[in-house]
Amino acid sequence: MLQEKKIILGITGGIAAYKSAFLISQLKKLGADIWVVMTKAATSFITPLTLQTLSKNKVYIDLFEDSSSFIPKHISLNENTDLILIAPATANTISKISQGIADNLLTTLVLSSKTQKVLAPTMNENMYNNPIFQENMEKLKKMGYLFIEPEYGRLACNKEGKGRMANIDKIIEEVKQVLINDNLPLKNRKILITAGATREPIDIIRYISNRSSGKMGYALAKEAKRLGGEVTLISGPTFLSSLEGVAMIKVDTALKMKEAVTREYNDKDIIIFSAAVCDFRPKKVYKGKIKKREENLSLELIENPDILRELGSEKKGKFLVGFAAEDSDNIKSAIIKLREKNLDLIVFNNITEVGAGFEVDTNKIKIITKDETIKEFPLLTKQEVAQNIFKEIIKNLPSAN
Ligand code: CTP
Repeated sequence: MLQEKKIILGITGGIAAYKSAFLISQLKKLGADIWVVMTKAATSFITPLTLQTLSKNKVYIDLFEDSSSFIPKHISLNENTDLILIAPATANTISKISQGIADNLLTTLVLSSKTQKVLAPTMNENMYNNPIFQENMEKLKKMGYLFIEPEYGRLACNKEGKGRMANIDKIIEEVKQVLINDNLPLKNRKILITAGATREPIDIIRYISNRSSGKMGYALAKEAKRLGGEVTLISGPTFLSSLEGVAMIKVDTALKMKEAVTREYNDKDIIIFSAAVCDFRPKKVYKGKIKKREENLSLELIENPDILRELGSEKKGKFLVGFAAEDSDNIKSAIIKLREKNLDLIVFNNITEVGAGFEVDTNKIKIITKDETIKEFPLLTKQEVAQNIFKEIIKNLPSAN
C-alpha cells in the first residue's frame, strides 16, 4: 500500500520512542521506505541499531557527522521524501519547530523541507495543556502541519492524563490517509479560499460589518482538503475554529484581505471568493472613541476595492469562483457578476429564503458555469453544498476537459 513511499521517521526523546520499533516494522510491511532521524535524547530510549535493523537503512542522528557526500545531510535526506513523520514528538521539538529553530539534524531537516509533516505528540499532561505549548502547536497547525492527538492514559510520570502517544494503528491510518491519496481529484492543486465578513473600523472600538459567519467558506476549505488539495484559507473574524491541515491567514478589513489575496494568488490554481467583503468603509477612522454628543453624527463611506473584480481582470489562468448573495430570485444579477468579474463559476443564493441566509448551517444554491448553464440544488447543509460546488469545479477544471 505504501510501495515507493519514502518516509522520514523523526524520533525524539520520549518514553514512547520504544514504540518506534513497532511503527517501523508495520510501515515496512506496507512497503514504505523508512529513513530514521533521531535526536540525541531519543537514543537514550531506544538504540539506533534496533531501528537500523528494522528500517534496513542507516539511522541518522548527527548533523555534522562525517559523510562522503558534499551535499548536506538535511538536503540529501529530504530528496524525494513523501512524508516527514515525527513520532514521538516531544514538546521541546514541536516548540523548536514552531519557532524555526534548527539546532539538530531533525529540526534542520524539517525547516528545510516542503514535504507534508505529521506529528504524534507525547508528553506530561500539564506540558500538553500549557498555553505556551498549545500556542506553538496551533501555529504549526495553521501552517498545515498535521497532529495526531495524544491519548488519555497512564503517563511516564505515573499519573493518568492526556499525553500518551496515539496508538500505532492510528498513526498508520493517518500516514495512509496522507500518502494514499493519489486518486483524489484535487491532489497537487493549490486552492485559495476567502471566508467570513470583513470589519471596517469607525473608531478604536466600533466597526461596520455584515452577518456572514464564515461557515460556507470553512466548509469549502474542509472539503477541498478532503479531496486532496493544498488549501489556504483567508478568513475575516469568525467564531469558527481553525481547520486541520489548512493554512490560515486571519485578516479584518477589506484592504487587508485584498493584500493577503494578492500575495497568495500567484501560486494557486483555484481561487474561491466566498467572503462577504464590505463594499464600503468609513473614510475617516476616528482616533480613540467617538463620544456621545447632542447633534447627529454622519459617517462618510468610501468604496472598498472589489478584490475579485480586480484579480479577475488579470486572471492569469486561474480557475475563479465567486459568490452572489442576492436579496431576490433574480439570477440575472449573478450572471452579470460572472461575466463582469471574468469568473469560471458563480454560486448564487437568495439570502431572503429560509435556511439560505447568513449565520445558518444550511444553504440553497444555484451554480452557474461560464457557459451560463444553471444547476439548481435543494436546501442542504453547508458541507453538502461545499461538496456540490467542488463537484462542479472539478468537472469544469481545464485538465478535466
Ligand atoms: N467581492 C470582492 N470584493 C468586494 C466585494 C465582493 O471580492 N469588495 C466578491 C465576493 O467575495 C463575491 C463576489 O465578489 O465572490 C460578489 O459579491 P457580492 O457582494 O454578491 O456582489 P458585489 O459585486 O459586491 O455587488 P452587490 O453588492 O452590488 O450585489
